[in-house]
Order: sequence, then structure tokens, then C-alpha cells
Amino acid sequence: MRHQPRFMAVHPMHACLAELSVMHPLDDVDRIMDVMTSAFPAEYGEAWNRRQVSDALLLAGTHYGLIARDGSMLIREDEPAVGFYLARGILDEEELLLFAIAPEARRQGLGHALLRDFIENARSRGKKRLFLEMRRNNPAGILYAAHGFQPVGIRPRYYRGLNGDRIDAITQELALD
Ligand SMILES: CC(C)(COP(=O)(O)OP(=O)(O)OC[C@H]1O[C@@H](n2cnc3c(N)ncnc32)[C@H](O)[C@@H]1OP(=O)(O)O)[C@@H](O)C(=O)NCCC(=O)NCCS
Repeated sequence: MRHQPRFMAVHPMHACLAELSVMHPLDDVDRIMDVMTSAFPAEYGEAWNRRQVSDALLLAGTHYGLIARDGSMLIREDEPAVGFYLARGILDEEELLLFAIAPEARRQGLGHALLRDFIENARSRGKKRLFLEMRRNNPAGILYAAHGFQPVGIRPRYYRGLNGDRIDAITQELALD
């Protein structure tokens, strides 16, 4: 498998600046973008474009994970991902920036598996506090709550829908032992 020698991080699918500067992971950017374009509702402008993803992957402290159709976090070179996360860590904190499962693969437990991987990977790197921000009433909140995330703040009217509606952003935190 090509990923294993390329990434020396704790998990072969998680990258940081030092490794990525050696070999640019265009194939994984493709996989992320394939999910991105179908996963986020166009309404709220949450999806990132290819340039934003590529740039983020070059920043120190950026980590990502991909999940395959069978729930494996190790993806063959020729296999598409059905879900991904992108996170950024600073000191002992990590923020989950993007998290998505492709629509055709939802409600089969892949979101649980991917979130578990994110949490355990962050824990293994010594992270103590995990954060994320979500639209109020996003069903993803049920998933986050199941893994112990708790609401700790509100940004009123942070998201604006295409129809002009404003929706609060809810900041959630998970404290790790
Ligand atoms: C949120 C998301 C990642 C969940 O992925 P998933 O693979 O469907 O998650 P799972 O199958 O592991 O489901 C986990 C649990 O979350 C809850 N859940 C997930 N989607 C739900 C929905 N649409 N309605 C109600 N509950 C939902 C359920 O409790 C579910 O468990 P269940 O199926 O046993 O009832 C996916 O819907 C998604 O990509 N959404 C668009 C992007 C997004 O909003 N990301 C989060 C940004 S903060």
C-alpha cells in the first residue's frame, strides 16, 4: 500500500506538514473533494474548495482521515473514500474542521467509525481537548453527543442560508482523559 511508507504519523492516513512537503497527496485531495462535493448542502456554503483543502494540508498540525465503504480507514490506491475528516491541532487542542460521509453511504455506522478514529487518533497524539462547530439542529449533533461532545458556546446567526435565513453555530467540546 502506497500510503504506509509515505506517512510516518501515528496512523498512515493522517498527515502533517513534514510528511506532505515530501510528497504532495493529490490523490487524497481528490478523494476528499469527491466526498465534499456531494456531502454538504449547498445552502450554507460549508464545503471547501480544492484550493482550500490543498492549502490546509500544507499547514503544520493538519490531520485528516479517510474511510472506505467497508469501514476501513486504510484505503487502497484505486479505491474511493466515502467519508473524510479534516482537523487542525494546536498544542494539546484539536479542532475538527470538516467531517462528512457521502449521502449514499449514510446511516450505516460509518460516521461513528470515522468520528471514533478522529478521537482516538487525537488522543494518541496527546490531545486533551477537541472542538468543533456545527449548525444548530444539524443531525450530526446526535452523533457528536453519542461520542461525548458537549455544547460549550454559541455564535448567534453565524451561518447564512441561500434564502437569507440565519442559523446559530454551536461550539462543542470533548475533554479527553
Ligand atoms: C453527519 C454525518 C457525517 C453522519 O454520517 P453517517 O454515516 O450517516 O453516521 P452514522 O450512520 O454513523 O449515524 C450515526 C448516528 O447519528 C445520528 N444521525 C445521523 N444522521 C442523522 C439524520 N439525518 N437524522 C437523524 N439522526 C441522524 C443517528 O443517531 C445515527 O445513528 P443511527 O443510524 O443508528 O440512528 C452525515 O450525515 C454527513 O456527512 N452530513 C453532511 C455533512 C455534515 O453536516 N457534517 C457535519 C458538519 S458539523
